[in-house]
Amino acid sequence: MRWSETKDEHKSAFHRKKITVVGAGNVGATAAFLAAQKELANIVMIDVMDGVPQGKALDMYESSPILEFDAVVHGTQDYADTANSDLVIITAGMARKPGMSRDDLLNINVKIVAEVTRKIVEHSPHCVILVVTNPLDAMVYTALKVSGFPKQRVIGMAGVLDSARMRAFIAEELNVSIKNVSACVLGGHGDTMVPLPRYSTVAGIPITQLMSPERVEAICQRTADGGAEIVRLLKTGSAFYAPGASVVQMAEAIIRDKQRVQPCAAFLEGEYGVDGHYLGVPCKLGAGGLESIVELELTADESASLQDSMAAVRALVKQVDALGHF
Ligand code: NAI
Ligand code: 2OP
Repeated sequence: MRWSETKDEHKSAFHRKKITVVGAGNVGATAAFLAAQKELANIVMIDVMDGVPQGKALDMYESSPILEFDAVVHGTQDYADTANSDLVIITAGMARKPGMSRDDLLNINVKIVAEVTRKIVEHSPHCVILVVTNPLDAMVYTALKVSGFPKQRVIGMAGVLDSARMRAFIAEELNVSIKNVSACVLGGHGDTMVPLPRYSTVAGIPITQLMSPERVEAICQRTADGGAEIVRLLKTGSAFYAPGASVVQMAEAIIRDKQRVQPCAAFLEGEYGVDGHYLGVPCKLGAGGLESIVELELTADESASLQDSMAAVRALVKQVDALGHF
């Protein structure tokens, strides 16, 4: 009995979906590994470092008999291998070191994101692009402009991570299962992000009813500092386990058409009083990428904080526009 004519046939087997991860560093490799374990798709990892995506991909694939997942993981430097991806996740670029803000990465990463987006679009003209590279809100804007894709197919990951951090801190504070906790963080992925305690709950009860205003404020502050807290500990780079898991939650919503509502960086055209910019807001994700934006009712203070966050993102986008990569 012949099960597969060639090794290449095996690689494209079973009509699986295809995910490309650009950048096989800490976040990219973690996301690829988690996505493979969930059997979301066959995975291609591409990176400029010769041998790195190949070595990591082979290592992951060799774990599949133990972890019992059926997904082929392939590493490459050749964009032809990424052809016809359903989803492309961009993690390529530089990560923060201690003392650096996410915004310090702008000049280097905008060039990288513009370059990889051009290559992705050439080989996967119908894919959804999920951007992770920082500074996130400016990089996802770069990918939108360079790709020429509709806004539904270019989104950014940040709010899932920021909300996950807030959920973890709430669960720790109240000693409850993480499964009872939901949290909502909107705005740009930076110091001005907007945790929303009124929309953060334990078993449906807003945390404002469960802890003192001082503890709520402390949790919001720790959430906003969450990335820097990890950078200070690691010293050589930034977080990747929670970011990788956040990417995969969004990838699953898209690949499996789950219509799941999650905070994402989406291109706003009037929603939340913002026009022509990316900002973190609750979004419904499905096979088409961004299926719809959910508009929450905000108090005057919450709205003002969101507008402050928008101003910070707008300043970054101005720098991106001035660099002239598109
Ligand atoms: P890393 O340094 O471990 O990996 C980055 C990888 O990108 C490296 O392997 C590098 O060789 C590769 N790369 C550089 N130029 C490339 C190009 N032109 N084409 C393909 N690959 C290229 O960094 P890490 O920790 O994986 O972070 C990646 C990015 O994601 C950073 O900008 C980081 O700040 C950002 N990040 C964003 C988060 C978010 O919530 N949006 C969360 C965590 C990280
Ligand atoms: C984080 O929040 C570095 O943006 C990344 O951990």
